[in-house]
Amino acid sequence: MKEKLRIQGCARLEGEVAVSGGKNAAVAIIPAALLADSPCTIENVPDINDVHVLIEMLQWLGAKVEFKDNVMWIDPRTVDKYNPPYELAGKMRASYYLAPVLLGLFHRAEVPLPGGCDIGARPIDQTVKGMENLGVKVETLGGVLVAVADRLLGNDIFLDMPSVGATVNSMLTAVSVPGMTCIHNAAKEPHIVDLANFLSSMGAYVKGAGTDVIRIRGGRQLHGANYTIVPDQIETGTLMIAAAASGGDVTITGAIPAHMESLSAKLLEMGVHVSSEDDWIRVRSNRVFRSVNVKTQGYPGFPTDLQQPLSALLTVANGTSLVTETIFESRFRFLDELRKMGANVRVIESSLAMITGVDRLVGTRVNATDLRAGAAMIVAGLMAEGVTEIGGVGYILRGYERIDEKLARIGAHIERIQVEDAF
Ligand code: EPZ
Repeated sequence: MKEKLRIQGCARLEGEVAVSGGKNAAVAIIPAALLADSPCTIENVPDINDVHVLIEMLQWLGAKVEFKDNVMWIDPRTVDKYNPPYELAGKMRASYYLAPVLLGLFHRAEVPLPGGCDIGARPIDQTVKGMENLGVKVETLGGVLVAVADRLLGNDIFLDMPSVGATVNSMLTAVSVPGMTCIHNAAKEPHIVDLANFLSSMGAYVKGAGTDVIRIRGGRQLHGANYTIVPDQIETGTLMIAAAASGGDVTITGAIPAHMESLSAKLLEMGVHVSSEDDWIRVRSNRVFRSVNVKTQGYPGFPTDLQQPLSALLTVANGTSLVTETIFESRFRFLDELRKMGANVRVIESSLAMITGVDRLVGTRVNATDLRAGAAMIVAGLMAEGVTEIGGVGYILRGYERIDEKLARIGAHIERIQVEDAF
């Protein structure tokens, strides 16, 4: 049996929907909790598959972990291994965040190279460079990253690009390394700031997160902390785009409008009404959209993770839109699936796609080729005439907490179905 999402299109979304805690914050903060000398309690943890895989890995390493109603309790004091198994680590991208943490605990770590969405080569050379700058001996042996503490000392790290993963791994390494470390050209995403705030709550000296230079004075013993994870920027954006696509009127609660400015500006350009106050964003549309050009950048630029859902919306905008994907070299594969629904899309080169609006999409069987491609298929299905069946639901559930239930509660005709065949 295979699970799919089945959407009957053209339903207007109306009402309020709450956003969950940030996936990309949680997958960095949960490993960091192992560095404490006492338990951590973390709230607003999204109940998603990536989090459950991380829990399995932490328990395999010896930690005690409880997770209920989006609250996670972690007692790291019984961790006694430094080599999480491949069958778990290969399921997600962020598993390699355990490497700097286990290195800090055992002066050695053996972590399988990361898995994650197939949107490009996704090398980890910047992570390796950051660790080596701090005196770590790093080598990859048979698909496993082996890190051994040599002469650890704080240092400057100049990242070639503002890599989220390399910034996280450099931060998680530096907190255990005596002396001052400065990470230059650091990523500035909200989940980077959230990790810095969590580390600070554990007693770490971390300054400058959210700017190009993060300064960490490492080597302190960190203690347990109580922390609440930041709302998910990408889920917020996905819900905003879904609301607009349906021609609805939706208020997304528990959000941080400041994190959404690049998307809000783009939706306003398209003729969508966006308003917001402290912790909510309201999106209204009449299903008439102007075409726009989009270029993905690191934060605070337009997020690459929202390129796919927004591209789905652009398939019915009036005119032609140009989408430039500067972050990942193969993040347009999902356009083939949209073409099956009648979209008029052309990939000009690996980083540039042209989308010419059509009157309507038509529901059919499509596949989610990665997590955010799944989000794009949901947006398309909400707009399409007829029924859309989306395969690859596992991708979607990796990163969106009960997204089908959330959308159904505000009017979407969406359900998870079991089917015999896998297409
Ligand atoms: C993180 O991936 C996110 N994943 C991705 O979200 C997100 O798309 C990406 O950041 C960009 O915001 C998590 O946080 C778990 P990068 P990451 O390192 O860390 C190149 C989702 O849907 N690069 O910022 O892998 C790389 O190839 C996922 O939630 C190197 O060349 O992204 C890419 O082209 C998908 N060498 C660019 O930099 C390196 O050592 C950005 O990658 C590292 C990266």
